[in-house]
Amino acid sequence: MAERIGASSLKVVSRKSLLFFFIMTSVLFIMSWFFVLRSTSRPHFIDHNLLPNSKLFSTLDGSKSHMQKQNVESSFGNRAILVDSEDVEEASETKARNGKEKLVKHDGKKCNRNDEVVLKVFMYDLPPEFHFGLLDWKPSGNSVWPDVRTNIPGYPGGLNLQHSIEFWLTLDILASEFPQASKARTVIRVQNSSEADIIFVPFFSSLSYNRYSKSKPHVKKSKNKILQEKLVTYLMAQEEWKRSGGKDHLILAHHPNSMLDARMKLWPATFILSDFGRYPPNIANVEKDVIAPYKHLISSYVNDNSNFDSRPTLLYFQGAIYRKDGGLARQELFYLLKDEKDVHFSFGSIGKDGIKKATEGMRASKFCLNIAGDTPSSNRLFDAIASHCVPVIISDKIELPYEDVIDYSEFCIFVRTSDAIKEKFLINFIRGIAKEEWTRMWNKLKEVEHFFEFHFPSKENDAVQMIWQAVARKVPAMRLKLNRFERFSRSPPSTDEGLRSIPVPKNFW
Ligand SMILES: *[C@@H]1O[C@H](CO)[C@@H](O)[C@H](O)[C@H]1NC(C)=O
Repeated sequence: MAERIGASSLKVVSRKSLLFFFIMTSVLFIMSWFFVLRSTSRPHFIDHNLLPNSKLFSTLDGSKSHMQKQNVESSFGNRAILVDSEDVEEASETKARNGKEKLVKHDGKKCNRNDEVVLKVFMYDLPPEFHFGLLDWKPSGNSVWPDVRTNIPGYPGGLNLQHSIEFWLTLDILASEFPQASKARTVIRVQNSSEADIIFVPFFSSLSYNRYSKSKPHVKKSKNKILQEKLVTYLMAQEEWKRSGGKDHLILAHHPNSMLDARMKLWPATFILSDFGRYPPNIANVEKDVIAPYKHLISSYVNDNSNFDSRPTLLYFQGAIYRKDGGLARQELFYLLKDEKDVHFSFGSIGKDGIKKATEGMRASKFCLNIAGDTPSSNRLFDAIASHCVPVIISDKIELPYEDVIDYSEFCIFVRTSDAIKEKFLINFIRGIAKEEWTRMWNKLKEVEHFFEFHFPSKENDAVQMIWQAVARKVPAMRLKLNRFERFSRSPPSTDEGLRSIPVPKNFW
């Protein structure tokens, strides 16, 4: 009996809860409809066609590049990047005509016609301890800068050199001040920051990390940490930083461990990096930041008369075994490839005599392996390019310099890590690449190698100028962010204190 009562009361309860559930879902359904209707009538959902000047937009869209150029220049005022859009069109027409010619040549000659300069840079006169002072240079007189016409402080050699981007870019800015500077320059230093496209922060952060990140005994903080703190304090006090919140600043952090502390405070700026491996995506990402090549350690292969048959080694790898992160693939690949006769696999980082061996090895190889290590990028890729050894890239998250204008698939082989570690997959794939195809890639390597060469003075479309051009392509997005940032600059100050200090949002960029 008790059981039956229990069962029937259960039925009542479940019927009641079913009814309740039904009513609740109906109410929620009606409410959601209400919100959808409300939100579609809010201004930012307005249909484009309902705008009174949508016609204006469409004429602008369809108008000739000439008009677009005027429009760009007038709206940016002094901060326009002087890129002739007619030339861009011309270039893309040529590209289309050439059909197969997929590689976009960023035509420096055309951009710099009539001495036009791509990028106007304001550079802070930071004390020498942040830059050339790290190279043991001491100022004479009032200037914090060496006179680059007569005295170029040397950058330390060896592994330091691979991250020396900071040095080359700063030299290029300094050289731009002299009238005899090369006509093909891409950058010019301006003394009035309001006239600049970007604000350059000349801190040699990679060198600071390489030389001064270890603290001395009995000293709490390393010099590298102290310099970063000083830099943050300095920047926060500058009118230029306050004006933009750092959004138009350019900061160098090519070594993956450089700026480890300051990056968390200086994130609104654009960074020049080697990859994003050690950055959270809200601090650094491909939209905001610029990837620069490593300076290769192996010297360029001039007068390369080799060919497919004269390079005896099929596949070359030199590097350390990593057991963490993305590096596991290295070990797997070693076991898969170690018994192949024409594959060279050796461990250990490139030391002094190692460079000579690696030079010989890469120049004698058809393909050079680039496997993700403890970071997705490494300078081995640029050593391979300099040696005209077709890179085989096994690094799913690698970021490549100026990939918006260069199609790497024309001279590199990309293999997914998950495929590469399958039995026989990689070796069969590489063996399947015929002499003809290899020769095409080898020729392409010789065409693109100068994009990765650092010079002083900079040369047309060398690495220095390519990096500046990549920065110039970020400027419109910086301007967009800045203008949005300043929307309310003339409005009365907010009375709501809670809205003023907004934390770094995720996916802000
Ligand atoms: C800097 O440039 C801005 C904009 O062109 C101008 O208004 C300002 O007067 C200039 N400042 C100096 C010190 O020349």
